[in-house]
Amino acid sequence: MGATRSKKSDTRADFVVVANRLPVDKEVLADGSVRWKRSPGGLVTALEPILRSRTGAWVGWSGQPDVVEHPEVEGLQLFSVPLSAQEIAEYYEGFSNATLWPLYHDVIVKPEYHRDWWNSYVAINRRFAEAASEAAAEGAVVWIQDYQLQLVPKMLRMLRPDLRIGFFLHIPFPPVELFMQMPWRTEIIEGLLGADLIGFHLPGGAQNFLYLARRLAGQATSKGQVGVRSKFGVVQVGFRTVRVGAFPISIDSGELDSRAKSKEVRKRAAEIRQELGNPKKILLGVDRLDYTKGIDVRLQALAELLEEGRVNPDDITMVQLATPSRERVDSYIKMRGDIEQLVGNINGNFSQVGHPVVQYLHRPVPRDDLIAFFVAADVMLVTPLRDGMNLVAKEYVACRSDLGGALVLSEFTGAAAELRQAFQANPYDTDGVKLAITDALEQDPEEGKRRMRALRRQVLTHDVQRWAKSFLGALGADAETIPSQNRGLDLV
Ligand code: ADP
Ligand code: G6P
Repeated sequence: MGATRSKKSDTRADFVVVANRLPVDKEVLADGSVRWKRSPGGLVTALEPILRSRTGAWVGWSGQPDVVEHPEVEGLQLFSVPLSAQEIAEYYEGFSNATLWPLYHDVIVKPEYHRDWWNSYVAINRRFAEAASEAAAEGAVVWIQDYQLQLVPKMLRMLRPDLRIGFFLHIPFPPVELFMQMPWRTEIIEGLLGADLIGFHLPGGAQNFLYLARRLAGQATSKGQVGVRSKFGVVQVGFRTVRVGAFPISIDSGELDSRAKSKEVRKRAAEIRQELGNPKKILLGVDRLDYTKGIDVRLQALAELLEEGRVNPDDITMVQLATPSRERVDSYIKMRGDIEQLVGNINGNFSQVGHPVVQYLHRPVPRDDLIAFFVAADVMLVTPLRDGMNLVAKEYVACRSDLGGALVLSEFTGAAAELRQAFQANPYDTDGVKLAITDALEQDPEEGKRRMRALRRQVLTHDVQRWAKSFLGALGADAETIPSQNRGLDLV
């Protein structure tokens, strides 16, 4: 990685992914040199293998202001959409991550509504639509991703009616009562309805959307009433048919499974245990540093278990790997302080010199190291207050061909619908989380194997290729071909 080209090639693609972020992030090092590294987050984890397995283009932002060059990454055709520093503040940090992100995650923090942020969101969505239009060949399939780009489907359809347009939302779609707070709610629903197919992780999100589509998009306009009816996962918008369904995303499970079995990873996992001082049990958290992830939930539960003497600090080490995220957004700044204070309190109260109970790394770790951490961990802690899917839970399971380990999983993740044999808990119920952690620490090894075998069956058979095939199959097919379990309810 590292080379760039300054002009787009003339070739237009038959398959185009449009996402706020490119799969690589530009990093300017202290000496002024440039490095392109993997972008953070589950969207990139999921989509990168898909783009590699079929030829296509990826349109997105480089993570830095005013980047116009298009990075070269072997096997991928990438197109940068430039954003200025002010646009990053208003469209990305503002409307995307201080308005939409908290609103769609159960208002865990209060969403902020600012008209200038909205104006920037509209302008940048238009820029992405124009870039997608330039990248797409006649009749191409264009797959638009996530909450940052909800207006793009309609804008792109107006520019290029020849395209087949899909949209997938990687985060939860909120209940009607919450969505109705949004001052620009009708514009967002109408923006999404520009797609031919709209996908959510869970049927509940699809149902919320279908209800809102009927309620908001069918309103009278200056040209008269636009008929919007929704039925069996189908919205009729005038003469157009928009399909809506649930497509739970996944990971490249086979690839992770085989990397986790490699000699190098096994060796690294053993080294990690050694470096941690050979504790009886290793607990692990792996997250972007985000308030939705419930990092505080697991730390609070652990602190209480230690205080009550139900967990012996000499027996355990908890490792928390936290990728820096959205570091200039106020709620993220505050949450980082709160979490670091919790880590400090636990270590201050329970650690011995040379053996901290909680080891906290505020940085992304290389992929092979991360896999080794999954292999080494006896208990994986996934405790979000709300999460569209949570790929980390699936990654842990994919790495455990030894059938060891135990997964503690919040009920409020999309993954909980599939990973039934995890130790599930309500993250708002601290006693319940504590019980799930002690059950996982004390599980009978045979029972643990039985659980892990069942979890692995689900994750290995439902991989990201299957997800993409199912979505793209439905996008290319007739309305009747969305399987009934993928549909939202009939709300007419
Ligand atoms: P989100 O998309 O909200 O960040 P997911 O759990 O769905 O959450 O996906 C997160 C992705 O980022 C996973 O592929 C995970 O392995 C990766 N990741 C999270 N934290 C780290 C870290 N500290 N180092 C390296 N990769 C990480
Ligand atoms: C989640 C979102 C993605 C986003 C990722 C990383 O997975 O669904 O759209 O790219 O988090 O967040 P960031 O703001 O760094 O792109």
